[in-house]
Amino acid sequence: MAFPAIYLLSCLFVLSVIAQYEWQIKDAYDEIRLKYNKVTKDNCEIVHDKELFLPEDAVSHKPDIKDVNINPVFPNRTALLHIHNMALSRSFFWSYILQSRFIRPAINDTYDPGMMYYLLSTVADVSSNPHVNASAVYFAPNSSYSPSYLGFFNKTFDRFAPRTYRADDFNDPLHLERISTLNTFIVQDLGAVVPHTSNDYASAFYRINSWYKKWLPDKVAGRHDTKTTYQVKIRYANNTNETFTFHGPPGADEIPGPVKWTQPYFDCGRSNRWLVAAVVPIADIYPRHTGFRHIEYPTYTAVSVVEMDFERVDINQCPTGPGNDGPNKFANTARCKKETTECEPLDGWGFRRGGYQCRCRPGYRLPYHARRPYLAEIIERASSEVYYSSFDCLKIGWLQKPPVQWEKAHPYIRDVYLNRYYEYKNFTRGPASLHMKKLNIHEALHYITTVNKENCKSINPQDLVLNGDIPFGSKEFFVNEARMAIRLANFISLFLQINDPKEIFSDKRLPDHELTEDQMIGETLALIMGNSRIWSAGTYWERSRFTNRTYFAPYAYKTELNTRKFAVEDLARLNDTENLYTNQEWFRFLQQRWQSNFDSLEKYNMKIKLRFNTTGLHQRKFEHYPNFYRAANMDHGYWTSPYYDCYGKQPMWKVKYAVPFFGWDSSKASLEFKGVVAVTMDLLKLDINQCPDKYYTPNAFKDSHKCDQRSSYCVPIQGRGFYSGGYKCECKQGYEYPFEQETTYYDGQLMEAEFENLVANKETRFEQETTYYDGQLMEAEFENLVANKETRFDMFKCRLAGASCIQANYITILAIFLLLTFFRGR
Ligand SMILES: *[C@@H]1O[C@H](CO)[C@@H](O)[C@H](O)[C@H]1NC(C)=O
Ligand SMILES: *[C@@H]1O[C@H](CO)[C@@H](O)[C@H](O)[C@H]1NC(C)=O
Ligand SMILES: *[C@@H]1O[C@H](CO)[C@@H](O)[C@H](O)[C@H]1NC(C)=O
Ligand SMILES: *[C@@H]1O[C@H](CO)[C@@H](O)[C@H](O)[C@H]1NC(C)=O
Ligand SMILES: *[C@@H]1O[C@H](CO)[C@@H](O)[C@H](O)[C@H]1NC(C)=O
Ligand SMILES: *[C@@H]1O[C@H](CO)[C@@H](O)[C@H](O)[C@H]1NC(C)=O
Ligand SMILES: *[C@@H]1O[C@H](CO)[C@@H](O)[C@H](O)[C@H]1NC(C)=O
Ligand SMILES: *[C@@H]1O[C@H](CO)[C@@H](O)[C@H](O)[C@H]1NC(C)=O
Ligand SMILES: *[C@@H]1O[C@H](CO)[C@@H](O)[C@H](O)[C@H]1NC(C)=O
Ligand SMILES: *[C@@H]1O[C@H](CO)[C@@H](O)[C@H](O)[C@H]1NC(C)=O
Ligand SMILES: *[C@@H]1O[C@H](CO)[C@@H](O)[C@H](O)[C@H]1NC(C)=O
Repeated sequence: MAFPAIYLLSCLFVLSVIAQYEWQIKDAYDEIRLKYNKVTKDNCEIVHDKELFLPEDAVSHKPDIKDVNINPVFPNRTALLHIHNMALSRSFFWSYILQSRFIRPAINDTYDPGMMYYLLSTVADVSSNPHVNASAVYFAPNSSYSPSYLGFFNKTFDRFAPRTYRADDFNDPLHLERISTLNTFIVQDLGAVVPHTSNDYASAFYRINSWYKKWLPDKVAGRHDTKTTYQVKIRYANNTNETFTFHGPPGADEIPGPVKWTQPYFDCGRSNRWLVAAVVPIADIYPRHTGFRHIEYPTYTAVSVVEMDFERVDINQCPTGPGNDGPNKFANTARCKKETTECEPLDGWGFRRGGYQCRCRPGYRLPYHARRPYLAEIIERASSEVYYSSFDCLKIGWLQKPPVQWEKAHPYIRDVYLNRYYEYKNFTRGPASLHMKKLNIHEALHYITTVNKENCKSINPQDLVLNGDIPFGSKEFFVNEARMAIRLANFISLFLQINDPKEIFSDKRLPDHELTEDQMIGETLALIMGNSRIWSAGTYWERSRFTNRTYFAPYAYKTELNTRKFAVEDLARLNDTENLYTNQEWFRFLQQRWQSNFDSLEKYNMKIKLRFNTTGLHQRKFEHYPNFYRAANMDHGYWTSPYYDCYGKQPMWKVKYAVPFFGWDSSKASLEFKGVVAVTMDLLKLDINQCPDKYYTPNAFKDSHKCDQRSSYCVPIQGRGFYSGGYKCECKQGYEYPFEQETTYYDGQLMEAEFENLVANKETRFEQETTYYDGQLMEAEFENLVANKETRFDMFKCRLAGASCIQANYITILAIFLLLTFFRGR
């Protein structure tokens, strides 16, 4: 009888802890938090299946491949987008390589990657991004062929599922620092189990295999055209062309799309954390070697699953509305005072309360003592008295209507502004505008955006390379793309360092073969297929480092977005001094930097467990256990200056990120530089930051905003692209926004199409009341002022706060009256 009582008591206790103060009523967040805390490593085996999952809408704003190219992806979703892209990219690679046996007649299936390739590939997925916590490939029963065992031709593993997850190595004797490095990985073959037990990921007894059930098992009965096909045109170094068509995951335009998301689930018995997974199917022609092509069908034989910690997925607690249109479990759990303030999400908080701030509603201003909007962090911790007595905004008593009739600026006013923004007074046009001491952002952007594939040939080549401070912020903006390159570089480093093709094992197991050309082509291709923002990617091998080749550099590119046709070229073909890739500036830079000293490379530890034998049934340790490898991280790569690719495959402004990979030298004693993986992205997708910053930040557009410096400050708006006006002017402490009109507010997401209209100030998308001046409006008005047209620029300032009402103050009036009469009297 004691047990229920304790249970009841503990429930009460939990409830009382949740609601620290009585003003904090229980909400959806607490409900999820309760579920989240309830399941632990120790009880997860016995709780009900349902409790191992959180509701679908606990993760809102899931990246959707249909609109990643249309709408901006905000920092609060970059990590989710990365696991989305990574799962997709892996699926393309495996689909490509499993079917690559059709490119050339396979001799006894030697083209299939070996077991080590699978395991190490999942390691690289996790090691290249701290936000990825696990990566796996799960094969359907009896569908994985492998060259890793002697006499295994035309046989399949019953189950095969290489998986890597990041371990907490805080207490690991591997390293003595007693800190979490996040660089230790547990690598396992989860297929080494007794089938049809609760350990078998493909069985119904396995409680958390929702990722598996999303796509598998795939029952294909007949028909050869049930799976989407992709086409690759390959041009080899010997100038022969080949077009290869292979089956892959569904296309982005299909329903359902290629990527399915799982509910957050408790990774019971494995990493024992709450995870969210992106799942993409891998296609193959199955079964093989029947001798009858007409009974071999394109089939999904495996799924690629990439997972991240649920705790790291930002939640949005604001009420539903534009930008938060659900389904979102946490909508409306913010604790802003709704009468006078409104909620705005902040990023980087993960699954914690307080990832928002409360700004004043239109028509309200902050009280004098408050400098910035109220941070939820502080609100959530407030006691009842404090909560009820503060965090309000004050009503602005007297609001101006915006002027209906526009006027040209008074010449004097115009002069004042032109002196302040003197870069608009005497400026140069064209490429020279980029080298002015103070950049005229309109001229600079005008030059950059008017270069096209026709006129670029007549422009001085020097002017087709921009300064390195133009793509400011690209490290953060293109972080996912850079990480895809790092993944491949990490994988090659890892494979070259761990797999020894000459090793001999005591049982029937065989080491993997050396990397093949097809694998490298497939990996490079997967970068551009899995990430739509990567326009081209290349794996450039240092001279004589790739087996049997002097030069080898598969370069994959696409010529349009949303396509299923891709191209690969081996750049080894272009071997004259000028075009040879090893002579390019970025290649030489990395080659020289990584000539001899490898100490600063990141060290990754692995604990690899393989299957016991071909049947599986249980695991055993890899011969080298634990082991480690060294590879580059983000900082070891190189960002090029932006350039216009005038004679290239895709004429556009690009920025390139290149990252090196390493393997053993011939004596196997020390590492050596083996080559570079590079990806290029469209420069004009980048956001421009015009706000002021520290004097040393390398941003060409720094401090080019047009906010009134005395009364307002500049705050960047994300997602506006390579245009001026990606900011807003918020009123400073003690100032207020004087207008009550529906200010024209341009939705950054629809901006590309609307931009022309907007500068011309014609039609606007939607109007919304605000409490700040939008940067695009400021820039447009400023341009009017410069052109000496009608403008309202001079009015767009914040007003000294305190005009609480328009009621006349008798004392003031009396004083003025007295003064006036006094002066007049004299
Ligand atoms: C392929 O395998 C068969 C038997 O398994 C063997 O006789 C033949 O020599 C092999 N071919 C090559 C090229 O290794
Ligand atoms: C997942 O990654 C995060 C870092 O983003 C780390 O803090 C966390 O411990 C990892 N979780 C697991 C289960 O390794
Ligand atoms: C897989 O192969 C094994 C051994 O050949 C067989 O016992 C099992 O029934 C097969 N499983 C399926 C799902 O075909
Ligand atoms: C060209 O190279 C490719 C790949 O290395 C090879 O498959 C093809 O047979 C070669 N063609 C000729 C004509 O040598
Ligand atoms: C391969 O294609 C390229 C362009 O697509 C062409 O210039 C080249 O001549 C082709 N090679 C052969 C051997 O036909
Ligand atoms: C491969 O295996 C399948 C099914 O087990 C069989 O039908 C086929 O004849 C085998 N092919 C070869 C070349 O051994
Ligand atoms: C992410 O940020 C954007 C822009 O601030 C916002 O519209 C969106 O609701 C946020 N999403 C989440 C889950 O916080
Ligand atoms: C504009 O600047 C150039 C050189 O920077 C100078 O020669 C010229 O006189 C200036 N023109 C005006 C109108 O100030
Ligand atoms: C490299 O060339 C040698 C000799 O031609 C050949 O035996 C070996 O299989 C080749 N290696 C690869 C990976 O193609
Ligand atoms: C360049 O490639 C061509 C054809 O592949 C070859 O004949 C020539 O020797 C190569 N030149 C150099 C410098 O490697
Ligand atoms: C694999 O090992 C198990 C014992 O763990 C054994 O029963 C099985 O026969 C072995 N399989 C092969 C193919 O040797």
